[in-house]
Amino acid sequence: MVATPHFYAQKESPERFLARRREAWDRLAPALPADTPRLYLGAEVCYYAGVSQTESLPELCIEGSNLLLLEMPFQKWTGRVTGEVIQIVQERGMRVLLAHIDRYLAFQSPDTWERLAANGVLFQVNASAFLGGWSSRRRVCKLLREGEIAALGSDCHNMKNRKPNLSDAFAVIQKKIGQEAVCMMTERADHLLTSERSAANP
Ligand SMILES: [Fe+2]
Repeated sequence: MVATPHFYAQKESPERFLARRREAWDRLAPALPADTPRLYLGAEVCYYAGVSQTESLPELCIEGSNLLLLEMPFQKWTGRVTGEVIQIVQERGMRVLLAHIDRYLAFQSPDTWERLAANGVLFQVNASAFLGGWSSRRRVCKLLREGEIAALGSDCHNMKNRKPNLSDAFAVIQKKIGQEAVCMMTERADHLLTSERSAANP
């Protein structure tokens, strides 16, 4: 499990965010049951102009890795915005995983996705996209078949209306695409974290 609290640069500095996250973790860790899966500390970094130049950006990556989970603006992205995302990969040597791209599919051009993918930007999709309406399901199943999804996420926020739902999504994937697709996504997620950790800590 990866814990990804939101980071908003307009609200606080990375240092303040990291200190708050550490305080929260220090309170939570002793209360976790012994059989809790390993929990990695991360962040969902909300895009801002200048993000690629932020000195402490590596510290916002998923613990032990150089993988940055980036939440993009909810509007059509300009060439400057996508260019800055690519700069994080090319100039900072980090890997970028765009959060819940299922929310942006309707208002980005195919060229935008192609440019990002061609430059090594990775895409994450929320499990809920496989559990929504017919058109949402069809779109993300197509992406999965085309190998464009690097990771599925629950985007869990609580145990009521944003509770863990990965197993529900995997049931849909198994039914619509097959068990191989379930295995592929599981392996891909494992590999993503493993390879990123070893890349960051050679
Ligand atoms: Fe988000």
